[in-house]
Amino acid sequence: MKYIKDIDVSNKTIILRCDLNVTIKDNKIVDDTKIIKSLDTINYLLENNCKIIIMSHLGKVKSLEDKEKNTLYPVYKRLKELINTNIYFSKCTKGIELENLVKNLKNKEIILMENTRYEDYPEKLESSCDLELSKYWASLGDIFINDAFGSSHRKHASTYGIKKYIPSAYGLLINYELEKLNELINNKEKPFVVIMGGAKVDDKIKLIKELIKKCNYLIVGGGIANTFLYANGYNVGKSLITKESLDEVKDIIKNYKDKIIMPIDFVVENNQVINNRNLNEIKDDDIIYDIGKLSIEKYEEIINKSKTIFINGTVGLYEDERFKNGTYSILKILSNSKTKVFVGGGDAVSATNKLGFSDSFYYKSTGGGATLEYIIDGSLQALED
Ligand code: 3PG
Repeated sequence: MKYIKDIDVSNKTIILRCDLNVTIKDNKIVDDTKIIKSLDTINYLLENNCKIIIMSHLGKVKSLEDKEKNTLYPVYKRLKELINTNIYFSKCTKGIELENLVKNLKNKEIILMENTRYEDYPEKLESSCDLELSKYWASLGDIFINDAFGSSHRKHASTYGIKKYIPSAYGLLINYELEKLNELINNKEKPFVVIMGGAKVDDKIKLIKELIKKCNYLIVGGGIANTFLYANGYNVGKSLITKESLDEVKDIIKNYKDKIIMPIDFVVENNQVINNRNLNEIKDDDIIYDIGKLSIEKYEEIINKSKTIFINGTVGLYEDERFKNGTYSILKILSNSKTKVFVGGGDAVSATNKLGFSDSFYYKSTGGGATLEYIIDGSLQALED
């Protein structure tokens, strides 16, 4: 796929696929990072005198209620605050109303089309990359620009199907994200440390297997650490573990024993009472929700010796005030360290924003799933020919 700067977009009608899948609560956008990060390409197209039709998904649409809940209208309002030009909102994802808006669109004007996944109900057309739908959307413009990094692991009509019918290229955000991820994958600045948290190992096992080969240390936290500890023979009480992945985890521990750093103390809940426990003191009905002070100190030593860090997931249930200290402390240590920190999208990015570290790191991905796929496979499905 070509890069936007290597094709002539001037004066053209552009179908621009962005990832504007932001969290919305009570009609308010909780975090507008994805919108802000999409502005470079939008502004580039405006400077080139283009007419722009922006498409994006928002959440999943499997019912009529999902349609109501997942409207892009709040995103439209935010775009109007951020961009100084005429912007129109198309309530329809196909049909005469949308076509008329496109027909009357002038250069340097924008249409934001309603959630592409409205076409997933009642029939799954967007997510199944329906050819008719792809062809129809393509017919609205001259050139397709994909700048939806966070959706580029999805082969959907709006991310992949359209480009079968009109010339296409990828935008500035995708270019930026791939540049940074390539820098991470090929990193020469060692020690390279991976901090892997999150609930379940099976979501991350492929990523762990890929990164363990490249890193000097793998620090584990969250539910992932519970499974590693359990696989190593420790009692983790009633804590979340992923039994399906135990054999694979045992293999990883066997092959990379010296690289894996596990927590040594915890904050646990037992019958609604919160306790601090060392590794050998875990009781049968304890539930681990966070790492403890000794683990944080142990991780700090490694972090301070490293030159590159990739963090994915969180080391505790940071959304709950009682269990946020581990994640907060690790982010604080990372933000004070001289190391280059890459934050891998999803929960880790939400945690940086929620806990006050939104501008603290070298790179923060706008796409969790896409980041994982790119690190594991070295490619993204929607960008394939
Ligand atoms: C994301 O938030 O990770 C992207 O927008 C992709 O969303 P999806 O998993 O619903 O396709």
